[in-house]
Formats: sequence, structure tokens, C-alpha cells
Amino acid sequence: MSAITPQDFRTACSRFATGVTIITTTDGATRAGLTANSFSSVSVEPPLVLWSLRLQSRARDVFERAGRFAVNVLAAEQAELARHFARGHDDPFHGLALEGPAKAIAGDAAQLPLIPGALAQLICRTDQIVTAGDHLIFIGEVEALTQRVGAPLLFYAGGMADGAPALCQPDPGA
Ligand SMILES: Cc1cc2nc3c(=O)[nH]c(=O)nc-3n(C[C@H](O)[C@H](O)[C@H](O)COP(=O)(O)O)c2cc1C
Repeated sequence: MSAITPQDFRTACSRFATGVTIITTTDGATRAGLTANSFSSVSVEPPLVLWSLRLQSRARDVFERAGRFAVNVLAAEQAELARHFARGHDDPFHGLALEGPAKAIAGDAAQLPLIPGALAQLICRTDQIVTAGDHLIFIGEVEALTQRVGAPLLFYAGGMADGAPALCQPDPGA
């Protein structure tokens, strides 16, 4: 096998379809949030999730200091929000007209900024931060959550798409 280039690597990984999240936090003074598709569930008992952040991200210090984060799983109609939170802003919430109250949910002692209309919101306490190459892996214990049925926003081969209807039916066994 020939040596892989970063472009080969990115392209191969882009063949893995994912959902899209916006990960948010605040350290009390500064709010931060970014679009991320590196989210994954890890453990059920205790409930653990992970996601990874570029070492160079301007949001790195806030996420490291805050000790908490929220994972907002985006719905199909939230592609524009995903693009906004992928652009990089000092305060991505500033001037943003979020429809509906971004109200705190049970366990959200830190009043983490949440994305209204998300399919799921997972409030997490940061359990471990692991350095891995050019990213930090944040592992969090889920302390509270909301969820609803709806069509997901999907990411595949570098593009975003609405969830296929077949994916959007609630599983009767779940
Ligand atoms: C669909 C999608 C998924 C992304 N996933 C991640 C991710 O998992 N981790 C990450 O650090 N950046 C990810 N990004 C890029 C960040 O959203 C982007 O770099 C960031 O918002 C720019 O701000 P920053 O310079 O403060 O990091 C993703 C972007 C898109 C469009």
C-alpha cells in the first residue's frame, strides 16, 4: 500500500455517513460552540459520549476550562445553523436569532447555551480530555438530556443532506 496523504485520509473518512451536532459550552464569561460530526456514544453505564476538537480551535480554552459541554444533535432543517457554527466566531451566539427559548434543562447547572429545535440535547460533565494527534478527544458523562423524533441532518462526502424518510420513523421497539 502506498503512503496515504491527508487528502486521501479525509476522502476515505468522508465515506462514513454521520449526523451533525453543534457542541456548546460556557465557562461563565465566554460562550463557545462549533459544528462537529466526531460525536459518538461510548458507554451506557455510565452514559459516556465523545467528540474531538482541533487543537488549533479558538474554542479550545473555553472547552478545557468549562468542564461541561452540551451536544445538540441537529434536525434536517438546521443545515444553515450547522454552516454558521462551522465558520468560527469569537461568540457564535452573538446576533443569532434562535427560534424558541434556549432554556436550560434539568441538570444544566452551568446554564449551557443550547440549540432549540435540536433532535437531542445531551448535557455532559467533562470526564477526560485525551490528546490524539492534532485533536483533543473530549469524553463526557451525560447528566441530563432531551430528545424528540424528527428527521436528522446528515453529513456525507463533504455535504449535508436531510435524513431519508425511512430513517425518520421512530423504531417501535425503542
Ligand atoms: C459537518 C462538519 C463537521 C465538523 N466536525 C468537526 C469536529 O468534529 N471537530 C472539530 O474540531 N471541527 C469540526 N468541524 C469544523 C468546525 O466546525 C470549525 O473548524 C470551527 O467551527 C471553526 O472555528 P474554530 O476556528 O474556532 O475552530 C466540522 C465542520 C463541519 C461542517
